[in-house]
Amino acid sequence: MSTELPAPTVAPDEGSATALSRRTFIATSTAAGGVAATAGLATTPAAAATHTPGAAAETPPTSRVTLSVNGDRHTTMVDNRTSLLDLLREHLGLPGTKKGCDAGACGACTVLVDGRRVNACLTLAVRLDGAKVTTIEGLADGDRLHPLQQAFIDQDAFQCGYCTPGQIMSGAGCIKEGRTGSDAEIREWMSGNICRCGCYTKIVRAVQQAAGRK
Ligand code: FES
Ligand code: FES
Repeated sequence: MSTELPAPTVAPDEGSATALSRRTFIATSTAAGGVAATAGLATTPAAAATHTPGAAAETPPTSRVTLSVNGDRHTTMVDNRTSLLDLLREHLGLPGTKKGCDAGACGACTVLVDGRRVNACLTLAVRLDGAKVTTIEGLADGDRLHPLQQAFIDQDAFQCGYCTPGQIMSGAGCIKEGRTGSDAEIREWMSGNICRCGCYTKIVRAVQQAAGRK
């Protein structure tokens, strides 16, 4: 997977002494993998702009990203601050992945990137050039549900359902990683997925079922 980023767009005042701006910082931290810092800035653009004279007139740096989502190839230009979660929901029209905390604390946004579980809200889209992303919309095989989707139905493992896409994607990753040897192991390896309705017992049963332990 290529991780090299195109040079960010440069505004005319970029060279000034005061132009060690939010945009410059973001471009740097993006290339260096400063996800947490950049995610924080992304939530408070107005506040950051108040500290940078002339920042409102600047164009945010953008990058071209090509990635596969559920088997479909997409090429798009994104603001470097765009999270994978917002790319999926706002740019690609895939709202199945949920936004809970938008801060890495709830797991509602869990998807698979190159087969590994990630929190999409903490993952910058520009870092995923060439990646293969699987979301809840791509888990079933046509009309045939993934075994874990079926198990969630069989075990009645949800109430409001808001956490469910993230739980299922995390559970699918958990099974693939072989972390289903016991109830305690499933609970430990899915501990990043919060269910405010408290369906944990049934979620564990569903993972057990799909893993072939029940
Ligand atoms: S929305 Fe990503 S962890 Fe909560
Ligand atoms: S089913 Fe409601 S938050 Fe989990």
